[in-house]
Amino acid sequence: MGSLKKITAPQITGYKSKGRKVVMITAYDATFARLAEAGGADMVLVGDSLGMVVQGHDSTLPVTLDDVIYHCRAVSRGLSRAHLVGDMPFMSYKVSRQQALENAARLVQEGRVESVKLEGGLDVADQVAALTSAGIPVVGHVGLLPQSVHAVGGFKLQGRTAVDRVRILEDAKALVQAGAFCLVLESIPLELAAAITSEVPVPTIGIGAGPHCDGQVLVIYDMLGMNEGFEPRFLKTYAPLGRTIREAVAAYADEVREGVFPGPEHSTSLSESKSEALPLYGGVDVPRTH
Ligand code: KIV
Repeated sequence: MGSLKKITAPQITGYKSKGRKVVMITAYDATFARLAEAGGADMVLVGDSLGMVVQGHDSTLPVTLDDVIYHCRAVSRGLSRAHLVGDMPFMSYKVSRQQALENAARLVQEGRVESVKLEGGLDVADQVAALTSAGIPVVGHVGLLPQSVHAVGGFKLQGRTAVDRVRILEDAKALVQAGAFCLVLESIPLELAAAITSEVPVPTIGIGAGPHCDGQVLVIYDMLGMNEGFEPRFLKTYAPLGRTIREAVAAYADEVREGVFPGPEHSTSLSESKSEALPLYGGVDVPRTH
């Protein structure tokens, strides 16, 4: 029932001809997913960025398929309309078509995603074709490939040389040829992103790729300022939640230590407790047992 209301891969592809921008954002749990959807996101990505912003690693490489599945299941419970994309983590699809098929199938069946994303170009075109033929929509990802951070020597702008720019454009075309329904373009010059966007028939979704893409994606913790001190040029902080959370916890800590919280308005006496339902986590009403 619910899935019939969801934004589909063909609808996303169709945004391009309608001139409608694609809004993608990451989420890793049901609460952020619900807020992202309420804010109007078309696509919610459970990125392997979870390795850095949730697990605290310095790269995405330690993230496992089970980790991504766990977070996808949580995010899926927060969505009723936005399209859910699950990232295929490091070495979960490069070995063979068979490996890619088996792991993408787990993301669909166990993680409840509607599509999968994988990094690479010509080198993964076979896998993209196999997944697409099996009915699993694929989001391509070219430019900076964080899973190749050791090979490229860091999280840096790609496509600085003409040779690299031609390769990235050819990779984008190969992914579309293989069936990708949209493409993430990460950390490339805006001119290259504009060229790819005009040459491929599917939406391009940029992060650090300038304004000429057909859509944009940001990591939700970054755009909410929760990753304080992380201020790359491509990032816009839409709310200073890092500061807000720190200040809120500090106020709470002070009030607990001073005996100000909980006050009478946050406490229930025996005489008023009889028939009252007690709202607990996430607004779920739990009947009193006493
Ligand atoms: O892992 C991730 O969150 C991503 C986005 C930044 C595109 O790949």
